[in-house]
Amino acid sequence: MNIIEVKNYDEMSLKAAEYIINRVKNNLNLNLGLATGGTPKGVYNKLIEDHQQNHTSYKQVKTFNLDEYIGLSKEDSNSYHHYMNENLFQHLNILNENTHIPSGLNDDNEAECRKYESLIIEAGGIDLQILGIGANGHIGFNEPGTSFHSKTHVVDLAQSTRKANARFFHSLDEVPTQAITMGIQTIYQSKEILLLASGKSKQDAMVKLLSGEITEEFPASILNNHPKALIIADEEALFRVKEISIF
Ligand code: GLP
Repeated sequence: MNIIEVKNYDEMSLKAAEYIINRVKNNLNLNLGLATGGTPKGVYNKLIEDHQQNHTSYKQVKTFNLDEYIGLSKEDSNSYHHYMNENLFQHLNILNENTHIPSGLNDDNEAECRKYESLIIEAGGIDLQILGIGANGHIGFNEPGTSFHSKTHVVDLAQSTRKANARFFHSLDEVPTQAITMGIQTIYQSKEILLLASGKSKQDAMVKLLSGEITEEFPASILNNHPKALIIADEEALFRVKEISIF
């Protein structure tokens, strides 16, 4: 696992966008894994800017998002479908049929999970997966205790995750209690992984991630074993790591 330290959120967003653009230019058929949350918003803005100025093309790129809330329709302003359309897809020349996000509204969630896992495999796997990280080490919505061998599955969200995400809803009660997420194995099988972290709320997570201990109690820790994982984190996120000299 490699790590690049940057000054702040803006620099993290720029570095990550450059990294992604480079991969898109070198592989027109890139399978790109995407994340939601506050962290990647700046990256998506930079990808849009680049697309408008330099015309980087996403015409043959396929995207696979990590997760979606169960119970929210695609049109719901808190769904990850809506987030991705607003913050990225509608501003690029990507084809709608090439963007994939698990459906949070269907009759059979287990079947939806199996279908999603097959879609990724049929596409040839994910070339580059973008990740944020939860304060408790969750990646996608894989909460502490999730098996490292898990594939796309239904999860009960940790109360701490619901509280952290309540800022996007009117109240905590509105935050769904379940989600569909790629499993840890699904994520780990990506050829390359780019994890982004910015700000004070990620300081403890960075300490645990970079301590090197690999445990299912801290899902992101599996990335220590990944042959091509890169972290781009800002000074604030790495502040405690440096204080205790593990980086
Ligand atoms: C959410 C998402 C994750 C995301 C994480 C951190 O629950 N499911 O994919 O990485 O929380 O979010 P943020 O970037 O807003 O801190």
